[in-house]
Amino acid sequence: MKVLVTGGAGFIGSTVVRRLLAGGQDVQVLDNLETGKLRNLPADVLCIKADVRDEAAVRAACVGCELVIHLAAMVSVSLSTVEPERCFDINVSGTRNVLAAARGAGCRRVVLASSAAVYGDEPTLPKREDMPAMPLSPYAYAKWQNEIDAAYFQRFCGLETVCLRFFNVFGPRQDPASPYSGVISIAARRLLSQQPFTVFGDGLQTRDFVFVEDVAAALLAAAQSPQAVGSIINVGRGERVTLLQLVQELSDVIGVQPALQFADPRAGDVRHSLSDVTRLRTQLGIHSQVDLKTGLATTIDWMRSEPDAA
Ligand SMILES: NC(=O)c1ccc[n+]([C@@H]2O[C@H](COP(=O)([O-])OP(=O)(O)OC[C@H]3O[C@@H](n4cnc5c(N)ncnc54)[C@H](O)[C@@H]3O)[C@@H](O)[C@H]2O)c1
Repeated sequence: MKVLVTGGAGFIGSTVVRRLLAGGQDVQVLDNLETGKLRNLPADVLCIKADVRDEAAVRAACVGCELVIHLAAMVSVSLSTVEPERCFDINVSGTRNVLAAARGAGCRRVVLASSAAVYGDEPTLPKREDMPAMPLSPYAYAKWQNEIDAAYFQRFCGLETVCLRFFNVFGPRQDPASPYSGVISIAARRLLSQQPFTVFGDGLQTRDFVFVEDVAAALLAAAQSPQAVGSIINVGRGERVTLLQLVQELSDVIGVQPALQFADPRAGDVRHSLSDVTRLRTQLGIHSQVDLKTGLATTIDWMRSEPDAA
């Protein structure tokens, strides 16, 4: 099967690409390398350097593909509050391009990366997929719009779609040098270099952290599962930890005492996050395999082996 992975040079994308290759699939990537890197990819993978807003490039990349895994996006909530129009352009218009191109090329299915950010600050926990969306940022609005657009293509255009709402993903190849990266890679980098780590808010906000290999497994299951067609499915571990607990776990794995600084909460950040994993288990057959401590240890091993990362 030929598969196109948009955003395949990024953190989650490069993990999915490896899994697809290991399963014997023919994989190509479309990525503008804004946050992704060519060195994240195995050398023999074709990476088309193009923007998802470039209709002709996306159309050409979809030709002959049975499956598209669409991960390319402006990934930062905080950047989206500063540049909302660019966020909508990339995340909404770009995603519509991908859906239209996949349909035009006769692809069977598109699996899209949505986000737990769609739930916003609705206080009920755990977050179930049938709860109302309450987005707090342009990024979250754009992801919500992606789900609506995917439903449209599913219902009216004969294209199978599945949207996965990722919770907080972590693991190797998450860029710790980016201020917009996931909290684990940023905190780990600070702790490894014995610098203070800034906690936005009181540190008692909670997150459901899921290891990137479990997310990649969910993406591949979503590409195959007949029950998943037309669904929105949470991808988390179904467990939550406070930010302060996370920093302590990380410090234990690294073997340092954490030095913390506190700053005001950031615009668009939600207070608590926890996924209901019923659909993940029943529709995709996925039970997360990697617990937080094991995932942190693997991530730290990778950072230590990568001079740029640590
Ligand atoms: N990491 C998380 O915790 C998390 C949580 C929820 C949702 N997501 C979603 O998962 C997807 C992958 O995120 P990631 O964490 O791997 O981030 P990432 O930044 O590593 O990957 C995104 C990739 O998209 C590429 N890209 C960005 N803009 C593009 C454009 N206009 N055209 C083509 N390529 C473009 C980047 O170069 C990068 O390779 C994104 O859609 C993100 O919103 C991630």
